[in-house]
Amino acid sequence: MKGIILAGGHGTRLNPMTVAVSKQLLPVYDKPMIYYPLSMLLLAGISEILIISTPQDTPLYRRLLGDGSQIGVSITYKVQDTPRGLADAFILGADFIGNDSVCLILGDNIFYGYDMSGVLQNAIKNLDGATVFGYPVKNPKAFGVVEFDEKHNVISIEEKPTHPKSNYVVPGLYFYDSQVVEIAKNVKPSKRGEIEITSVNNAYLSMGKLKVSLLGRGIAWLDTGTPHGMLKAAEFVEAVQSRQGYYVSCIEEIAWRRGFISTEQLLELGEKLQATEYGKYIISLAGEVLNQ
Ligand code: G1P
Repeated sequence: MKGIILAGGHGTRLNPMTVAVSKQLLPVYDKPMIYYPLSMLLLAGISEILIISTPQDTPLYRRLLGDGSQIGVSITYKVQDTPRGLADAFILGADFIGNDSVCLILGDNIFYGYDMSGVLQNAIKNLDGATVFGYPVKNPKAFGVVEFDEKHNVISIEEKPTHPKSNYVVPGLYFYDSQVVEIAKNVKPSKRGEIEITSVNNAYLSMGKLKVSLLGRGIAWLDTGTPHGMLKAAEFVEAVQSRQGYYVSCIEEIAWRRGFISTEQLLELGEKLQATEYGKYIISLAGEVLNQ
């Protein structure tokens, strides 16, 4: 299974914060926003990752994350000249995906909660066509909305409907088999001129191959679409970290726990950041093992 992070777009709803810098590079409390979706791919055990961004921002992601070898994974980059819609990720990523299955996560989606790695690994293990998630929200009109029966069979999926058929929306985390590339190439642009991920999902639905997995109340899906949402997300991360002492989406920790890097490598990464609480946390994780 390959992983794609889509970190393009104009981020206009966050101007002037995003005039000079890509939204997904902005901090959410103590780390760049892209660390959160990247940590989901690592939790899922995915070690081949493609980051898609704009011509101006791609070099900045490369500066931040390099080729991924420091955390034991492979990270490559692809430039998207203009934002043409989420489904474009599969066209731009066609060679990268090859005959493999793929997980797409949007660079501004933050998830946190109980057994998140179990949720991700189940989706991979049981993949047959496409798996999306359903998450209850108060304002479904702003999202892709999924309607399902009592056995959780999908009935419909609609992009930003005026009259939502349920209050379950589809977060920006999707799993597909390799057919997704051909499906994306055949998607017609919507009224807003984008090739929509919802059209891809509808193609799987018409083949009887779209599964929805419901995310329960124990999982937080945080909104970063507005300055208020960004502040609330930062406060959430700070509250969890300072209460528990465990970090949310520390990519070095997850890479280590997944076995992508050794304890010695983890210690080295922590030492580079030792002036910060983040670095001290990494050093303490390594220390617990090395000093045993
Ligand atoms: C996109 C998708 C939508 C999905 C949302 C999740 O919306 O089109 O179906 O629910 O991401 O973040 P957009 O961000 O393009 O408005």
